[in-house]
Amino acid sequence: MRRAAWVAPLALLLPMAPAPLFAQDGRALFLDARAGRCAHCHQVPADPAVKSQSTIGPPLAGMKARYETLEALDAAIGDLEKIKPGTFMPPYRRHRLLTDAEIAAIARYVWTL
Ligand code: HEC
Repeated sequence: MRRAAWVAPLALLLPMAPAPLFAQDGRALFLDARAGRCAHCHQVPADPAVKSQSTIGPPLAGMKARYETLEALDAAIGDLEKIKPGTFMPPYRRHRLLTDAEIAAIARYVWTL
C-alpha cells in the first residue's frame, strides 16, 4: 500500500510525451538535407528563402485548396505513391525516412503554403 501511494504520482510523470513539433520545425525538416530533402525537388513560391535545387516536383502552393484536410496532406506526404502510383517522390512513412511526428510537422508547414 505504502509503495503504491509512492509510485502512483510518479507514473503520471514518467511517460513523458515528446515535445510536439510545429510548423516551424516542419520547415526546418523540409529544408534539412538529411531529413525531408523536400527542396531537392520542390519550389516554394510563398517562402522565397527556400532555395530549390530542381523542378522534379511541382511547386508547392495553394495546398489548402488541393487538400481538404491537414490529415489528407499528411497522408500524401507520408506516401504519395498511394495517390499517384509510380511517383518519384519517396514514400517517407512506408520507408521510415521520417517519423510520424516529423511528417505531421512538415504537413503543418506545407499546409501554410
Ligand atoms: C525526389 C524528388 C522529390 C522529393 C525529395 C520530394 N518530392 Fe514531393 N513530389 C515529387 C513529385 C515528382 C511530385 C508530383 C507527383 C508526381 O507527379 O509524381 C511530388 C508531389 C508532392 C506533393 C503533392 C503536390 C500536389 O499538388 O498535390 C506534395 C504535397 C509533396 N510532393 C510534398 C513533398 C514534401 C513535403 C517533401 C519532403 C518531405 C517532398 N515532397 C519531397 C517529388 C519529390
